[in-house]
Amino acid sequence: MTKLWGTRFGKKTNRRIEELTSSLAFDARLAPYDVEGSIAHAQMLGKTRVISRADSDRLVKGLGRIQKKLAQGRLRPDPRAEDVHTWIQGLLEKEVGRVAGRLHTARSRNDQIVLDEKLYVRAEGQKILSGIRSLQGVILALAQRERKTVIPGYTHLRRAQCVRLSHHLLAYLEMLERDRGRVQGCLGRADELPLGACALSGTALPIDRHQVARALKFTRVSANSMDTVSDRDFIVEFLGALCLFSLHLSRMAEDLILWTGEEFGLALLDESVETGSSIMPHKMNPDPLELVRGMTGRIFGNHLALLVVLKGLPLTYSRDLQHDKEPLFDSVDQVKGALDMMAQVFKGLRIRHARARVLTQDEALYSVDIVEFLIRKGLSYREAHDVTGRLIRHLSQHGKPLRDMSKEALRGFSPALTPDVKGIINPVLSAGRRNSFGGTGDRSLGHALRLWKKRCSGHA
Ligand code: ARG
Repeated sequence: MTKLWGTRFGKKTNRRIEELTSSLAFDARLAPYDVEGSIAHAQMLGKTRVISRADSDRLVKGLGRIQKKLAQGRLRPDPRAEDVHTWIQGLLEKEVGRVAGRLHTARSRNDQIVLDEKLYVRAEGQKILSGIRSLQGVILALAQRERKTVIPGYTHLRRAQCVRLSHHLLAYLEMLERDRGRVQGCLGRADELPLGACALSGTALPIDRHQVARALKFTRVSANSMDTVSDRDFIVEFLGALCLFSLHLSRMAEDLILWTGEEFGLALLDESVETGSSIMPHKMNPDPLELVRGMTGRIFGNHLALLVVLKGLPLTYSRDLQHDKEPLFDSVDQVKGALDMMAQVFKGLRIRHARARVLTQDEALYSVDIVEFLIRKGLSYREAHDVTGRLIRHLSQHGKPLRDMSKEALRGFSPALTPDVKGIINPVLSAGRRNSFGGTGDRSLGHALRLWKKRCSGHA
């Protein structure tokens, strides 16, 4: 195996130990970031005269060629390398010869790996941020199309009150916006250059960390070298943000599974996102949504795995930290896949308006409207609640609709219960009038839709 160490050792490393300690199988994907960081480092070494300008130029050119080949997919990880850093170092030796040995000046793999991971988290974090934004755009388009549709809103998964379907969909946008905020917050805190911390204590060579920070677009330089090489908070935070994000996706997925099932029948999935059964020819299953719902288990597990790796770990670097990568990569891959699946599902979702109309005929959905009708007639909230409770009980016992009740029968419940109460049983009016800020009413909803239109088109 090619290594960045060895002369101190009188014995060769045990083969099995070599295999089991290697990280190349999973950290090879950090190669583009490793090279990007190395280019900035080599440039700084030249400018500060830690190495000669000529050597710095040779290193930068060689690394540039490797960068190109990586981007073109022309390089396969060398199984003899111990990790991504060793692999790139080996490639550089092939490109530029002995001068490659100068690249590692004033650098350790301990600060290098943190840099690679920060660059990775930043790049993937940005992709996830824009992925969430475009999912919000897809959901918003549906909310705009369906702004007239009224459905039953549920509490305890029992029918509660009429709401606009759009209002329900905008709830998803709020959840997703908080997820964006959490990702942005953790990217902001991670915005510190780790390189230059070296193994744990900095270096006596006259490096310029601020120059490297500028080249790699970091706002700040990390303040304490020992903290820098031990710190994986940015990964914990990122994985934590992805936990809540995947939790939100799982709740959205569950709503859609319920809505599109035969029992609710409120919506239809596009056939292109359903899968079949090997035994039951009629089945059309919502597998993508179930995978999104189930994915949360992995995402939570990845977060917890890293927390446990870090717990009680002494400062500074220990090899335990190598176990941070697979949970990180797995959560990123899963979440990006889920974003694509949810976008496809929402794009093809068709609402069954006739079914929504049938469901919103249930008079029980209007109990609060009746209470508010009575309050407007002067009853106290308590009195209005009691009258309405007795009325609904009567209707359900006799299996009769409100519209068939006589003026006298209504009066029997309360003199305030005049026949115009029957006009209350109207889904559009019921949902439309709840205009308290943040409510489902026409004006509140119109305001929210306009705000989201601005946000999703980048104007807010
Ligand atoms: N593969 C290592 C990791 O993932 C890279 C850093 C190795 N540093 C060391 N001193 N062995 O953490």
